Amino acid sequence: MPKRKISLLGATGSIGQQTLDLIRKSPNTYSLEACAAAGNNLDAFIQIVEEFQPKLVSTASASKADDLYKSLSLSVKNKIQIIHGEASLKEVAAFPLSDTVILGLVGALGLESALTALNCGKRTIFANKEPLVMAGNLIREALNNNKEAVLIPADSEHVAVHQCLQGQNFDKVNNLYLTASGGPFWNEKNLDFNSIKPAQALNHPTWKMGHKITIDSATLMNKGLEVIEAYSLFEIPYDKIQVLIHPQSLVHSMVEFIDGHVLAQLGPNDMRLVLQYALDYPSRQNNLTDKFLNWKEINKLEFFEPDLEKFKCLKLAYWAGKHAQTYTACLVAADEIAVELFLQEKIKFSQIPDLIEEVLNMHSAQEPKTLEIIQKTDQWAREQAMNLYKTKYI
Ligand SMILES: NC(=O)c1ccc[n+]([C@@H]2O[C@H](COP(=O)([O-])OP(=O)(O)OC[C@H]3O[C@@H](n4cnc5c(N)ncnc54)[C@H](OP(=O)(O)O)[C@@H]3O)[C@@H](O)[C@H]2O)c1
Repeated sequence: MPKRKISLLGATGSIGQQTLDLIRKSPNTYSLEACAAAGNNLDAFIQIVEEFQPKLVSTASASKADDLYKSLSLSVKNKIQIIHGEASLKEVAAFPLSDTVILGLVGALGLESALTALNCGKRTIFANKEPLVMAGNLIREALNNNKEAVLIPADSEHVAVHQCLQGQNFDKVNNLYLTASGGPFWNEKNLDFNSIKPAQALNHPTWKMGHKITIDSATLMNKGLEVIEAYSLFEIPYDKIQVLIHPQSLVHSMVEFIDGHVLAQLGPNDMRLVLQYALDYPSRQNNLTDKFLNWKEINKLEFFEPDLEKFKCLKLAYWAGKHAQTYTACLVAADEIAVELFLQEKIKFSQIPDLIEEVLNMHSAQEPKTLEIIQKTDQWAREQAMNLYKTKYI
């Protein structure tokens, strides 16, 4: 396998840190050439830049770039270039010395860098699922127009499906089963959703992740986004994409074929295995985490149907995916605002789907033919969500 020379977007986040752990463990197969983070976790960012000495570093603003520069040792300062602002994310994605881009930003912010990476013919690893949800058509177009480009998912469910579909004819798929841990509340019978505090929703039972995806996991919006992501990646119709709650999080997803055979992918629930698969594909090397399933300890694998009335976000995501057009971009933007308002304790947990649904209902959808149309939808949905909050929810 050729060495993967990596541009890492979101270096200080959960995906970023787990990628860096793999690079640390296997410096002969991976190297960090460029990276980006907002600069909110300055100590972590300094440590990354000092340790890996990437040639190009991006921060969200001039002041964050200044803070970072001032804190670096003289020898490192002389070796790196620091750039800033949203446009600098695209420079990291396009960095000529990298052949692989890992998208670990959160939300819609990652869209332009995703398209840039594919248009530059890079191996593009999508942890950041929202670009695939908002603009699946533009991403497929960029992939088809750039023969060098490779798109690999880095969500555990989609990596599972990717593995199960190797060498298979997609027309012969009867159903995709995306599994979900269910988050902290799926089995709470008497919990009042109005009373849930951010700290409770951030307490995920199996995965340790950034705040946005953790709240999305608690509302099941994350699974809804993954349903649309699966459609974008594999072009399997929505009525063949099913969600199952699987609290053990060991079966990462399954594919049922028309002849009744089912392929499932299982593995330890550690995102580093997922990222390693995405980096190494189609090759495989030794598991860098040293974690393997211990079959003697696994005594049950349970599956339950999600309650779409209780977890309305999942229902809304199916609705947006099936109605397509710009509804999916609208869904992503409204969800980002709703989650942020909940984290700031400005709206209740139960109001997250209400706010998103109201924005979707107000939206006049159109074909998402261009990046500009998608970006305008994103902006519009954010404004509508904030207006609704100020007029109805305060
Ligand atoms: N975490 C997981 O296990 C997991 C699993 C599957 C999929 N995903 C997906 O992967 C993506 C990343 O998730 P995460 O959990 O790693 O998120 P996270 O921990 O919140 O990390 C987000 C990263 O993005 C950076 N960032 C935020 N705003 C930025 C800006 N304006 N400019 C530059 N960088 C910016 C942050 O920098 P600062 O630290 O400076 O704020 C941080 O490095 C999400 O789309 C998520 O759905 C995550």
